[in-house]
Amino acid sequence: MENLAVVVGGAGRTGRLIVRRLLEQGERVRAVGRSAQHARRNLPPGATYAPGDVRDPASLGRPLAGASTVVFCVEPGTDDEGPDRPEATMFLGVANVLEAATAGGERPHVVLVSQLHVTHQGHPLNAYGRLLDWRRAGEELLRESGLPYTVVRPGWLLDDRSAGHRVRLEQGDRGFGQVSRPDVADACVHALRCPEARGVTFEIFNEPGPASASWESAFGSLEQDRALVA
Ligand SMILES: NC(=O)c1ccc[n+]([C@@H]2O[C@H](COP(=O)([O-])OP(=O)(O)OC[C@H]3O[C@@H](n4cnc5c(N)ncnc54)[C@H](OP(=O)(O)O)[C@@H]3O)[C@@H](O)[C@H]2O)c1
Repeated sequence: MENLAVVVGGAGRTGRLIVRRLLEQGERVRAVGRSAQHARRNLPPGATYAPGDVRDPASLGRPLAGASTVVFCVEPGTDDEGPDRPEATMFLGVANVLEAATAGGERPHVVLVSQLHVTHQGHPLNAYGRLLDWRRAGEELLRESGLPYTVVRPGWLLDDRSAGHRVRLEQGDRGFGQVSRPDVADACVHALRCPEARGVTFEIFNEPGPASASWESAFGSLEQDRALVA
């Protein structure tokens, strides 16, 4: 059976770039999201769309069935209560997607798009529905899932490379900066292919300078999460 890459949030501004890159590599790609209209407007030709809401486990069975790789690239919401609270999307939503993606016995590589500052409990962003706490809890679920995974923590997103062409990967959540959606998309897609990107969590930023030589060597300089915890 041909490989199937599922991009949850695939019609989003970063998600659609991920979808495009996967298609260019000849992958079969399914984008999952809440809005068919959003998907029609934003998905490149060749991608299929399946309706699914990460907050609703019943909606995820079909969209995730048979996935050999999964990218989770969903906007969290910022309410303190109700359906648009980060707990629902970034924690329960991640749990729901992992459950659906493994229901048939598959063990897909899962790339989770998170964000910088998730370990900074006192950061002002955490006032919005404990956004950072729930994102970090979702990361933890993935790290403990036993699945091959990569956690990508982008800096502040830009549509272009005005913050620079060089990509800087860091670990430890101490850095700050901006990064282009195209570079985040590249990181996600290359992470699915590079063994060096398995089992790692990293922040990603742009800085002035020439584009980096290879993703393999960038990923190769990272510590495995297990090594960081030990
Ligand atoms: N903005 C920043 O500076 C920044 C910094 C670091 C990290 N990030 C994170 O990077 C990721 C990509 O950001 P972006 O700005 O490119 O995203 P975006 O354009 O806002 O797209 C997010 C996607 O999430 C989907 N989505 C939202 N709720 C969903 C749900 N309950 N179930 C399924 N799909 C859902 C939306 O599709 P539908 O509406 O069709 O469902 C949309 O396509 C996000 O996780 C974002 O939080 C952002």
